[in-house]
Amino acid sequence: MDESRREEILSQGRPGPYWPAEPMLGGWYTEEEVEAATKAIRDSMDPTTVGFGFICPEIVEFEESFAKYCGAAEAISINGAGTGLDMAIMCLDLEPGDEVIVPAINFRAAAMAVVGQGGRVVWCEVDPRTFNVDPEDVERRITPRTRAIFPVHMNGLSAPMDELLEIAERNPHPRHGALKVIGDAARAGAGGYKGTKIGAKGWMTVFSFHTMKLMTTLGEGGAITTDDAEAARRLRGIRQFGGAHDGWGTNYKMTKVQAAVGLVQLRRLDEMTAKRVKAARKRDEMLRGIPELTLPYEPPGYDHTYYLYTMLVPRAWAGEKRDRLLHIMEEAYGVGCGVYNRPVYADSGYLREQTAGQELPLSDALSARLFCMALHPLMTEAEQEYMAAALWAAVEQVRCEA
Ligand SMILES: Cc1ncc(COP(=O)(O)O)c(C=O)c1O
Repeated sequence: MDESRREEILSQGRPGPYWPAEPMLGGWYTEEEVEAATKAIRDSMDPTTVGFGFICPEIVEFEESFAKYCGAAEAISINGAGTGLDMAIMCLDLEPGDEVIVPAINFRAAAMAVVGQGGRVVWCEVDPRTFNVDPEDVERRITPRTRAIFPVHMNGLSAPMDELLEIAERNPHPRHGALKVIGDAARAGAGGYKGTKIGAKGWMTVFSFHTMKLMTTLGEGGAITTDDAEAARRLRGIRQFGGAHDGWGTNYKMTKVQAAVGLVQLRRLDEMTAKRVKAARKRDEMLRGIPELTLPYEPPGYDHTYYLYTMLVPRAWAGEKRDRLLHIMEEAYGVGCGVYNRPVYADSGYLREQTAGQELPLSDALSARLFCMALHPLMTEAEQEYMAAALWAAVEQVRCEA
């Protein structure tokens, strides 16, 4: 993007609405979803026979379709990924002092799930190019109390699953055998890894269909995929008051209307993702050439879905100058930018207390440099160009202030 073009774009002002850094709807709905929701409601009107049901045919069909999409044997639909992460950790039957390794640069849900089940969170560092767990660092942190590795598929990019699964096999727990690898794919539905979809590898993978995610089921929703039939039975039991598993359970179900809408969103997921990826690639082209910025990295064999478009400023700009850049983007250009994510312990006093004494210098340093700029498949080309031109200008301003 040359200078005269950038000036021309910026002189015309922002061509559309303000997009927050994490847009409020991850994909979009069509008349098809509206019809599916309306039909599910209409089909549920008879109080003597039907109602909305419990595990109704829409839920069963959605689960089968989602499992097939991911290449997993089973999918269990639920009311959100937070719930799903709790359920996955419940299935470990942690004993006091048991440890689970969780990347520090993360949303807080995974760590909450571990603490909620009485486990000890052991933070690990991430790879600064991918923002995903660093396998070598994971292996260094394994102790005889380690039960599981809990990677997040960060911002749309798969974690390095093969390396993690090898580490899990190589370092078995003395009584429980190979460590379990549980993936948090709340932000990474539709992502790919070495010819498979996220959700195919690992003991369990947890997805979110919350309003901001890549596919959504009316605001909330989620699913867990697994190839472990016994684990699937237990998850179904936890989701519905014990169910056939006859263990502890409560009600974590999604609704029939959500499942009906989910079926349409799932059919449209590849189309929505392709548009998002195209927008990210176009942005790569427009931003390439800004010397200070490191653009998102997609390792060979991975299919990034760019749930968030994550960049790095140089070390010299860590902290104050990065924040200044974000301030200029927001205030001078009206472009949503944010830091996703700081280390969890920096944002949650509760989890900081739970993990007191652990130090993650690389995550601290990285989180002072990273930032995300709003990206959405429905952004127009003019909006995309404006955002890129604004970022060129904001970087230049910070450079000149230096
Ligand atoms: C990485 C990650 N994990 C878990 C969650 C929780 O998902 P849900 O809102 O479906 O409970 C989120 C949601 O923001 C997330 O980003």
